[in-house]
Amino acid sequence: METKVLPVNEESLKLAAELLQNGEVVAIPTETVYGLAANAKDGTAVEKIFHVKGRPQDNPLIVHISTTEEIYTVAKDVPKSAMKLAQAFWPGPLSMVLPKSDELASSVSAGLSTVGVRLPAHAAARNVIAMAGVPLAAPSANTSGAPSPTSAKHVYQDLQGLIPLILDGGSCPLGVESTVLSVEDEPVVLRPGFVTPQEISDVLGCKVHLAPSLQSALKQGETPKSPGMKYKHYSPKAEITILKTDDVKNFSDYVALQLEKVASPVNVMCFTGEEDVFSVPCVTYGKKDDAASQARGLFSALRKLDKLGAKTVFARAPKDDGIGLAVRNRLLRAAAFREIVI
Ligand code: TXA
Ligand code: MG
Repeated sequence: METKVLPVNEESLKLAAELLQNGEVVAIPTETVYGLAANAKDGTAVEKIFHVKGRPQDNPLIVHISTTEEIYTVAKDVPKSAMKLAQAFWPGPLSMVLPKSDELASSVSAGLSTVGVRLPAHAAARNVIAMAGVPLAAPSANTSGAPSPTSAKHVYQDLQGLIPLILDGGSCPLGVESTVLSVEDEPVVLRPGFVTPQEISDVLGCKVHLAPSLQSALKQGETPKSPGMKYKHYSPKAEITILKTDDVKNFSDYVALQLEKVASPVNVMCFTGEEDVFSVPCVTYGKKDDAASQARGLFSALRKLDKLGAKTVFARAPKDDGIGLAVRNRLLRAAAFREIVI
């Protein structure tokens, strides 16, 4: 199959909507990462998403809508707290896990009784949903296990020949996937993102929990609340270790001592402006103390490391609060939770 990459304009939006109505999958830009979209009411179309990504069948998808009211067509028994959050954070990078409407294909939520729902802020994404006239199931548009795509080029690298169309909306402004929040009973963040636990807590006036799977690798036999969290993710081919220290000199001394002991080539993932401290090639992923810039650069940096053929990577550690929590969660998973405090 030929994969077209078209800039977002009226014509390409129309083509995307037509393909989606005809049961095809199309890659679309969102403010977080590119999504691989299909009609969420069409079981055969949803199956294509799983097939194209090589996604495990038990990992549910997020359904995207273009107006808040549509929440009632994809979810039922929507609690008041969800509407409060929708008012505060939609359109934007928050996905809420709610009881699923029977109108959706059951494969969307991998047989679960709940569904993740999101109203994206990206105008192209909202236009495609509105023009297709159906809710769109859309996981990140990468091959399962690869870093999420933050540009049309990343999508093309992974899915070239497998899908008919990639809508090119440039680089994603945020760069990490949405916050996934369970709003049943007490709110639980299943995946951290740009909408932070503190912001959610401020709107709801209650405590917001963090899913245990965010902090450490799952123990054998343990089931996470969000199935996606059990899969190794965002992994370049290299073995990544996060080195936790505030002092970049301390970091570079540690790396120098490791060079003889680890598989080469060795690369460092550091913050912008720190490159000169190191004797090995560096890939930067944003500015120190600026978690939003780290989020924007992270997935692209992981893909670059693969291109460089890195075997061992030592990474600077993001902060573990606010948006840093989201960056840290993705990096920890890329590093299979290898982190050393030095
Ligand atoms: O920012 C985003 O959310 C992007 C863009 C395209 O919107 N989408 C995205 O989808 O990241 P995906 O499929 O790559 O990640 C969805 C995550 C997975 O970890 C999945 O397990 C979780 O959300 N999830 C989806 N539905 C769920 C449900 N009903 N219950 C618990 N977790 C759910
Ligand atoms: Mg994903």
